[in-house]
Amino acid sequence: MSNASFLSATRDSYDALARRTYPDLRFEVGSMLTLDLADAALSGLLASYSIIHIPWERRPELFAEFRRVLAPSGQLMLGFQIGDERLHHTEAWGTPVCLDWYRQQPDEVAGLLSDAGFDVTATIVRQPVSTEKTPHGYVLARKPAAAP
Ligand SMILES: C[S@@+](CC[C@H](N)C(=O)[O-])C[C@H]1O[C@@H](n2cnc3c(N)ncnc32)[C@H](O)[C@@H]1O
Repeated sequence: MSNASFLSATRDSYDALARRTYPDLRFEVGSMLTLDLADAALSGLLASYSIIHIPWERRPELFAEFRRVLAPSGQLMLGFQIGDERLHHTEAWGTPVCLDWYRQQPDEVAGLLSDAGFDVTATIVRQPVSTEKTPHGYVLARKPAAAP
């Protein structure tokens, strides 16, 4: 089993910071749509506020990739902002960017995970805190024990 954490290639400082802070852990840079991992390599996968940058129509492809890399009985957890909006930003902290945000509906995410062959075990909604603009959603799912 691998314990790699996948980070985006778009911000070099993320993986430098991660390696500096946790020198004993292994970090890889890559796209979650094409993870450089063998089938069934992971026992757990957390995608924390990162599926929000994947176009809605590519979620079936993404969840199939998550299922591929998870071992049978492997656990998946997703976190995201709830909503129906697609947002586009051209600037962040004074730096020009081209970044899309796709808010998610927990029941829709859960349905897509079921379609991808996961058993959905929990769907959680929490209300916004502090400066947050939306409720947040968390979906937990498990790859079936008998899955190939
Ligand atoms: C809002 S940040 C969340 C960061 C962190 N996971 C957290 O929970 O605080 C979104 C993250 O998704 C990453 N990301 C966006 N598209 C990605 C992709 N196709 N593959 C891998 N990571 C991606 C970004 O680089 C960024 O690290």
